Amino acid sequence: MKPWRERCVNGGDTGRGLAPGAPARQHGAMEVLIQNDAESGCVLGAKVIARQVRDKPDAVLGLATGRTPLRLYQELIRLHRDEGLDFSRVTTFNLDEYVGLPATHDQSYRWFMREHLFRHINIDPRRTHVPDGTAADLHAECRDYERRIADAGGIDLQLLGLGRNGHIGFNEPTGSLRSRTWIKILSEQTLRDNSGVFGDFAAMPRHAITMGIGTILDARRVLLLAFGPTKVRAVVDMVEGPLAAVCPASALQLHPRATVVLDEASAAALRFLDHYRWIDRHKLDWQKHG
Ligand code: F6R
Repeated sequence: MKPWRERCVNGGDTGRGLAPGAPARQHGAMEVLIQNDAESGCVLGAKVIARQVRDKPDAVLGLATGRTPLRLYQELIRLHRDEGLDFSRVTTFNLDEYVGLPATHDQSYRWFMREHLFRHINIDPRRTHVPDGTAADLHAECRDYERRIADAGGIDLQLLGLGRNGHIGFNEPTGSLRSRTWIKILSEQTLRDNSGVFGDFAAMPRHAITMGIGTILDARRVLLLAFGPTKVRAVVDMVEGPLAAVCPASALQLHPRATVVLDEASAAALRFLDHYRWIDRHKLDWQKHG
């Protein structure tokens, strides 16, 4: 008979994605962790990823770009430098890329990942995957990206940010909740939100290749970070709203192991705020954060 802790996690272990003998950490509900601020949220997020890499040195990580994970990546770099976190056998798949931007463009997501993470850690560049937004046949690139994820054995842990309109990856509101990697037209709001970083609204690509919601839901674990008052509405829709394509992130309610890390500002409007804090305070040691 399995030890008690492997039998009793929120209804039990389906075995999906767990290494033989690994403790079951399946959640029965979205795990909502509210931190004081984005700084502590990012440090916690990095801890979760570091544990994944230590538990499975050849882990397959799904990665995100944007403002939210920047501090988390700095913390991963620190863990690599100061504590020997080893990425040499890790494989990564990024969520998305702008159509038309080559890897050499300083606003491409390939460039972002190299600057903010890859060149600072000991990852093999050949194991890092970002969709090719310049592919001659974009549909073939989408199909090939799905195949490469499958060939790598699927994604162990997918990191996500949250768009102000509830998007994950570049899956904008009203898209199919079962979509696979595809080409999406970016919403005007997303373009405006990202134009601060991009610099020039008019020059921004209007299309992106993105993993689909179905692709994201296939990851064995999902870790979403959302900080600040601009995310407050999307957080409510994602965690407590109905499952609906108008908030693509609400699809994470279907995921057996989704962890959402918030700060006080982004969590402020949650109806069950006290409940999430209560649950977090009463976890047993082995249930905590990771
Ligand atoms: C990035 C991505 C997007 C962002 C989202 C939030 O690869 O897929 O979904 O996570 O737009 O962006 P920030 O973090 O800049 O608020």
